[in-house]
Amino acid sequence: MKSVSAIAHSNIALIKYWGKADTEKNLPATGSLSLTLDAFYTQTQLREAEADRFLLDGKEQSGERLERVKNFLDKARKLSGKNIYCDVLSKNHVPTEAGFASSASGFAALAQAVNSFFELGLAPRELSALARQGSGSAARSIFPGLVKMSQEGFAEPVSPRPPSRGPGYGKGTGSRVKPGMTTDGLDLRLLVVQCSAVKKPMSSREAMNLTTKTSPYYSAWLSSHQADLDDALEAIKQADFSKLGELTEYSALKMHASLMAAKPGFWYFEPTTIAVMNEVRDLRRTGLEGYLTLDAGPQVKVLCLNKDAAWWQKKLQEIPGVLNVTLAGPGPGAYDL
Ligand code: PMV
Repeated sequence: MKSVSAIAHSNIALIKYWGKADTEKNLPATGSLSLTLDAFYTQTQLREAEADRFLLDGKEQSGERLERVKNFLDKARKLSGKNIYCDVLSKNHVPTEAGFASSASGFAALAQAVNSFFELGLAPRELSALARQGSGSAARSIFPGLVKMSQEGFAEPVSPRPPSRGPGYGKGTGSRVKPGMTTDGLDLRLLVVQCSAVKKPMSSREAMNLTTKTSPYYSAWLSSHQADLDDALEAIKQADFSKLGELTEYSALKMHASLMAAKPGFWYFEPTTIAVMNEVRDLRRTGLEGYLTLDAGPQVKVLCLNKDAAWWQKKLQEIPGVLNVTLAGPGPGAYDL
């Protein structure tokens, strides 16, 4: 019986995408810039079966989660002309649906596995575009380190370089990289601060929809976005961490402001989220450089340089209400096992 396995790591956007230009094709309304992380990943096995099933962390899934996976497999069946059904066995080494970007690693791992299982032979860009159809941010998890995504709906590494040898060499688009290798002169780290264990009350898809349809700030988000992206790419080129950090924080706050101005307004912040946000600004004033970002969930992520990461981790862990702080570095692109 045919079986393949793949791994993809999650990513966090420094310059966010928020809103879709085309909901059918799941095309983003803006570009984005992200960092693929070594600490969080999804491993997915595809096994030939009588009908499609989706097991996440050993539990059989139904409803919307199963439908999204089945729709994705339908695309692969259509592309390959092969009418094969399968068990999708996924294991998340990242908390599910709590703002840890599990859908990014999930659909990137599924795309990578599907490419082998259905023998699609997709080039990296095409694979990224396929992953996007599962989840917008998944397109970026195909690649290692710093990754940019265009409005056309595929991602690519910020600085393309030949893949290094490692477990994924020759079998994936990203292969394994050593931390720091793909972030140019900036040895970036991201601290993921868990502020709440509750499942997010609104999916990013719903929240984007609400924003695009009702927020008067959405047009301002769209018109000011490209400049942030261009400036962030320039900051990377110049290895200007302060500039990149400021833009990272700015992009996240603008994204959340556009959602808060929707009708009805909505926010993902929990009390500990706000406490951490305040503390990051205080610590930056009195201590070392670090910048916050937030996705569609209550967790705060802090971008800093490797040399300051241990200090930040300790300080963030001391904030009352914080459940845990995970240190992440640049991670590899998706690869077959
Ligand atoms: O991957 P999606 O379509 O669920 O969207 C994720 C959106 C954010 O995480 C909030 C921002 C981003 O660019 O990843």
